[in-house]
Amino acid sequence: MYPILKEDLEKQESILQQTYEDALAFLAKRSEQKVEPGFPGAPASALPAEGLGAEKVQDFFRKHYLPWVPASSGSRYFGYVIGGVTPAALAGDWYTSLIDQNAFGQPGSLDRQIEQEALQFVRDLLGLPGSFQGAFVSGATTSAFVALTCARQWAAAQKGHSASEEGLYGLPRPDIASGLTHGANYKAASMAGFGRNIHALPLLPGREAVDIQALKDYLASRDQSRPLIYIANIGTANSGDIDDLNAIAELKERYGFWLHADGAFGGLMACVPEWQDRFRLLSSADSLTMDTHKWLNVPYDGAIVLTRHLHEQYQSFSNELTPGPLASENTVHHHLTPEGSRRLRALPAWFTMLAYGKAGYADICRRNVAMCRLYGEMIKNSDCFRLLNEVRSNVVAFTLNLSPEKITEDLIKEILGEVQKAGITYSNYVPYLNKPALRVCITNWMTEEADVIAAYRSMEESARQVISRRF
Ligand SMILES: Cc1ncc(COP(=O)(O)O)c(C=O)c1O
Repeated sequence: MYPILKEDLEKQESILQQTYEDALAFLAKRSEQKVEPGFPGAPASALPAEGLGAEKVQDFFRKHYLPWVPASSGSRYFGYVIGGVTPAALAGDWYTSLIDQNAFGQPGSLDRQIEQEALQFVRDLLGLPGSFQGAFVSGATTSAFVALTCARQWAAAQKGHSASEEGLYGLPRPDIASGLTHGANYKAASMAGFGRNIHALPLLPGREAVDIQALKDYLASRDQSRPLIYIANIGTANSGDIDDLNAIAELKERYGFWLHADGAFGGLMACVPEWQDRFRLLSSADSLTMDTHKWLNVPYDGAIVLTRHLHEQYQSFSNELTPGPLASENTVHHHLTPEGSRRLRALPAWFTMLAYGKAGYADICRRNVAMCRLYGEMIKNSDCFRLLNEVRSNVVAFTLNLSPEKITEDLIKEILGEVQKAGITYSNYVPYLNKPALRVCITNWMTEEADVIAAYRSMEESARQVISRRF
């Protein structure tokens, strides 16, 4: 054995002990340190001829990298859609690396049992029947890719073809339509060979949800012989708006399109009893995406793809030279995703769902939405800002209380620069209905009122500073 590797084997306990101590120190400081400390850079490392050994690498990492980690898993990080890490999810993630299983999903294996149970927990949370099968993948983009690839197989079958056997060349392209859908779905459409042309339907006035009347008109007027893939949005990234899923599902009954529900973050809202009516017909969807690294607060990376079309999924992603005719409940998971070898991503999700259950997740969702409403109220009561959206989920979109010509992308980004310098919170610029806006998204299991108040104050102070400097 290479001598340094042999030494590390002997020192494994102290290497892990140091990692554990670093973890505790990191978690203890997570809420105090600057949310976005900025990375000053580190001395360039070159691959050494002889290795340094794990302890020296730990020292190097601890000195030059660890202090500069943004607290994106902390309670005041309100940028993008970034979930935190629950204690149980972190433990599950450590076990995932410890046991280092290649999650093929062979019947009778431990990894299959964990993944199947975790998928059942997701179905239970979202109120979905067992006809929704699927697998864990790396993120919502990959999940959408799987879903659209299944839809591709379905669309080709309508014309008597198999896209997975023949390819797409020579096949008529199905239509793809949506309201305001995430860039990930354009990317997925491109990867699935459709090209990025997703027909964007009109939105409700002042909102990011699709106008159902416009969808009805579109469905009635289009060439019915072309298969249609429709993407419904459960939580738009700019304002967390949610399409009227029940109305869309009813239209699916009439027009027979493939319905994909992008619930990358908003899908989890279906676990809250008092919100479930909005998701009554979610079970009519053909496929569904939900990230685990967003609202489920599982560490990166992870998502689920659920479809009611296991056969199409198997045909598209089978690793076999000649896929068998039909998928069965014993089909191994690695015949269902773009990956071959795969991390047991289901394990941290299994841990956290089992640890906190339906009530725990309903509490996280309710609390995060309540915190967004609180932020929204502070915006409404301020002479500095104007609220842009009705807070329907965990996103607040707002702008400055200035005349429209003064509100530029540049100005908003300057304010966000000040917010980052202060280091108390992190928020994003978004183009909300094509106008420059600020945005806060609360997805972290730890966020409480004091975090929201501190974050809002920092935002207001930064805005006032920049406005007085500029005007
Ligand atoms: C609605 C929606 N769909 C898809 C995605 C892409 O997710 P991922 O980055 O996990 O691939 C996001 C990311 O924020 C999202 O908000």
